[in-house]
Amino acid sequence: MTLLISGGAGFIGPSLIDRAARDGHDAIVIDNLSRGRREHLGAPTLLIKADLAQASSVEHAASALGGRRIDEFWHLAANSDIPAGVEDPSVDLRDTFLTTFHSLLLAERLGVRHFFFASSSAVYGDQGSTRISEELGPLLPISNYGAMKLASEAQISAAAESALGRAGLYRFPNVVGVPATHGVLLDFVRKLKSNPLQLDVLGDGTQQKAYLHVSELVDGMWFASRRQQARREVFNIGPADDGVSVQWIAQQVCARVAPQARIAFGQGKKGWVGDVPRFRYDTARLAALGWRPTLDSSAAIVRAIDEVARQEGV
Ligand SMILES: NC(=O)c1ccc[n+]([C@@H]2O[C@H](COP(=O)([O-])OP(=O)(O)OC[C@H]3O[C@@H](n4cnc5c(N)ncnc54)[C@H](O)[C@@H]3O)[C@@H](O)[C@H]2O)c1
Repeated sequence: MTLLISGGAGFIGPSLIDRAARDGHDAIVIDNLSRGRREHLGAPTLLIKADLAQASSVEHAASALGGRRIDEFWHLAANSDIPAGVEDPSVDLRDTFLTTFHSLLLAERLGVRHFFFASSSAVYGDQGSTRISEELGPLLPISNYGAMKLASEAQISAAAESALGRAGLYRFPNVVGVPATHGVLLDFVRKLKSNPLQLDVLGDGTQQKAYLHVSELVDGMWFASRRQQARREVFNIGPADDGVSVQWIAQQVCARVAPQARIAFGQGKKGWVGDVPRFRYDTARLAALGWRPTLDSSAAIVRAIDEVARQEGV
């Protein structure tokens, strides 16, 4: 098969390409390289540079593909800077929603029947200590990013009734690993590299979230996508634990990168407006199919700290 992966030159895309390659499949990437990098992709991977927020990208990508058969569309392109989307709602309208809208038009244009989407726990909003299952509703996101992910799910669901044969909606927790392009570990490692004596943390460090290693995330998505029977399926993909605190993560990063550093916490339970300080996933649906991650949140973090530190040369 050939997979078309939007946003595939970022953090998660390269691991998905590797996972598909293990089963003998090729990938083609569409990315505007706003955050992604050509160097993240192996030499054989074709890269089409296009801004999927623009309607013209549909024609551009279709002609760059030159009639090549595409079997599956994996839509990963989105804004990854949630605070930036809170400051300016047009960021998520463009990069999180319109990329979905145009990816669907492109899938239809290419006759692709299978569409898989990188959604997020952000669609659930702030549910406190409730263990969140896929059945939960109504969904009331608290960030523009979460709102545009939910709108994207809705748009994909509607397309599944007409153009698409099958839509898989995968709600990720926080994902860690390399090549890191954003996120708490990269932020902490870079801060400590520039000042090994102090680590400034957004919020009071009590935020507690679940973390999944990128190798396991792509494995879980791949597993679910190979078994999909229904026209639409939604899965939480993550560890079953209650997550780890930002304070604990800060301590682990300091221990690896700058043991002398003092950790300076900010005020308030949230790192930024729209931050969900605590969430707990119910992962029973995917577990019932036979998949669960082997690393819990803490093991995923410890492994990824070392990977990110090496990426940053420390
Ligand atoms: N990393 C996480 O913790 C996490 C958690 C939940 C959901 N997700 C979702 O997974 C997907 C992949 O995330 P990631 O961590 O690899 O992020 P990333 O920023 O590394 O990758 C996203 C890619 O999309 C590209 N892109 C952005 N806007 C685009 C546009 N208008 N046109 C074309 N390309 C565009 C970027 O250049 C980048 O390469 C995203 O949809 C993200 O929302 C990630």
